[in-house]
Amino acid sequence: MKLLVVGGGGREHAIIRALRKNPAVEDIFALPGNAGMADDATCVNIGAKDIPAIVEFAVANKIDYAVVAPDDPLVLGCVDALEEKGIPCFGPRANAAIIEGSKVFSKNLMKKYGIPTAAYEVFSDMTAALAYLDNAPIPTVIKADGLALGKGVIIAQTREEAKAAVRSMMEDKMFGTSGDNIVIEEFLTGPEVSVLAFTDGESLVPMVSSMDHKRAGDNDTGLNTGGMGTVAPNPYYTDAVAAECMEKIFLPTVGAMNAEGRTFKGCLYFGLMLTPNGPKVIEYNCRFGDPETQVVLPLLESDLLTVMQATTNGTLKDVDVCFASKHACCVITASAGYPASYGKGYPIAMTEEAKAHTYVAGAADKDGVLVTAGGRVTGTTAIADSLEDAIREAYRLADGVQFENAYRRSDIGQRALAAKQ
Ligand code: AMP
Ligand code: GLY
Repeated sequence: MKLLVVGGGGREHAIIRALRKNPAVEDIFALPGNAGMADDATCVNIGAKDIPAIVEFAVANKIDYAVVAPDDPLVLGCVDALEEKGIPCFGPRANAAIIEGSKVFSKNLMKKYGIPTAAYEVFSDMTAALAYLDNAPIPTVIKADGLALGKGVIIAQTREEAKAAVRSMMEDKMFGTSGDNIVIEEFLTGPEVSVLAFTDGESLVPMVSSMDHKRAGDNDTGLNTGGMGTVAPNPYYTDAVAAECMEKIFLPTVGAMNAEGRTFKGCLYFGLMLTPNGPKVIEYNCRFGDPETQVVLPLLESDLLTVMQATTNGTLKDVDVCFASKHACCVITASAGYPASYGKGYPIAMTEEAKAHTYVAGAADKDGVLVTAGGRVTGTTAIADSLEDAIREAYRLADGVQFENAYRRSDIGQRALAAKQ
């Protein structure tokens, strides 16, 4: 079989390695991929948002199955366009990807169908938003409606900060048209859990839970990033919590999307907060998380391609989706300065041992040498019988990845470890 994976980061590298385990897979093309995954896939220089070029490539190369991994192409209708040409895909169509593409849509969906989430108001008028903030409870959370590279959420500790956030989104257009509409919502507290789930629009099968580390600095300080590391499973996500989420959040979401005529197929990502009043949805994503995927898929014992195809064919209830009863930890090595400005073009050295456990996110080829080309450069994952061992081993392996200006958080997994004890 010939497969195509749209995207080019660590998440896509982890998906590609998992797909490779199926003996029927001959070729995997990554569009665009990156030079660090060239041993595992044929990278083709077509951007993940260039849908006409992606479709043309898929048709010309007789692709048997396509996986569209990032949010942008999903929201832009990449799956719709490939399916129109008869190419089966993993991922939601645009009318369902809106669950991530518009926070106003997802908040209104949850309100309409009684799915627990933070109380909120929607504004399209800046004066009204500013007036509302005069009396809103503080801290408060301001969210741009559309996609904003994971940066469209501001937690304001004071009224002034909240108003400045509204102005930057609605007046200064910090996130372009993504800020034309905004959501102002209740500040929630509690541990966060990421749950990725396979769904064919009828059945839903949650994957092993995980915990992201979104802030750039140790002890959750500094700016929000795409994620600096992950562990799985998440110790806060007990069997009782899982059962409650299935009943009150996961199945109702699948049902709500069907009732709206927006059947969701693919990976539905639930960003949850376990509040004193029960689990609530912080956000939905229409795709695998990054770097959640880098701990979740290494624990998957079933064949990924088979499960993905079952979500496309509507046969998910007939396939096994099993995860190892082990622990995984992924440590991101980033360019110092990320998520603000950082240097690029530094040669990356990796021991063979580290390379086998590392997913490459931000790298390029420069005259035959692998060099840094992004904020998050690599993610190194270890699997072990205990969380403690997985963390220790992930850091030991990550030490085998070196480049000038490399930066890692030193406390990935420590909060999970403390929760277990
Ligand atoms: P998001 O991009 O929606 O995942 O938001 C980024 C981060 O902001 C989340 O991972 C939470 O840590 C935090 N956050 C978002 N919404 C809320 C909320 N209503 N209350 C408290 N924290 C929030
Ligand atoms: N790691 C968070 C995300 O993928 O959105």
